[in-house]
Amino acid sequence: MIFTVAIDGPAAAGKGTIGQALAARFGFAHLDTGLLYRAVAAKGGDSVAAARGLVAADLMGAGLRTLDLGQAASRVAVLPGVRAALVAFQRRFARAEGGAVLDGRDIGTVICPEAEVKLYVTASPQVRAHRRWLEVGGDETRVLAEVLERDGRDMGRAAAPLKPAQDAIVLDTSVLSIDEAVQAAVDVVQARMGA
Ligand code: CDP
Repeated sequence: MIFTVAIDGPAAAGKGTIGQALAARFGFAHLDTGLLYRAVAAKGGDSVAAARGLVAADLMGAGLRTLDLGQAASRVAVLPGVRAALVAFQRRFARAEGGAVLDGRDIGTVICPEAEVKLYVTASPQVRAHRRWLEVGGDETRVLAEVLERDGRDMGRAAAPLKPAQDAIVLDTSVLSIDEAVQAAVDVVQARMGA
């Protein structure tokens, strides 16, 4: 069976948590595409060459989820050459036999417009910053500023900007628990599978 769940949305909205839970629930493979851009930023040097030479081991690094690498990732993610180098791998993953969940910024709009389910997961900036602060610690005001700066860059870039696909279902997790958000996403996938 080929079945793609595309999850897009701004930083720390809950995409990864929902993506992992959907993958476990339906037995699909899961790809956190943000890790690709974080790994390119972590390699340094020529970003396009880094993107072209990316291998699975590059995604395993324990230190990829820091705030600073999030910022650095969004800077390399504006480069069309970096994005182009990562498209084929993501498309193959999305349409591989057995079903796939991908979360990122452009999955439903660019990587897999034919996805069977498209979710746009969002939450208020304050809620998202608080969640990210619980993960990374430090100064919460600074975390909020970084989240807003990154959202602005991701939404404002010319290449594959962050925006909901026209046919995406918007899931605002501001006042939802993790279980409620996951259940809402499960309901959408189940409805589509039954259709
Ligand atoms: O986990 P979080 O939402 O904070 O960020 P991430 O998904 O790890 O993504 C880090 C950065 O990579 C984003 O701010 C985007 O600039 C970029 N990215 C992208 O451009 N396209 C994607 N499909 C995924 C991430």
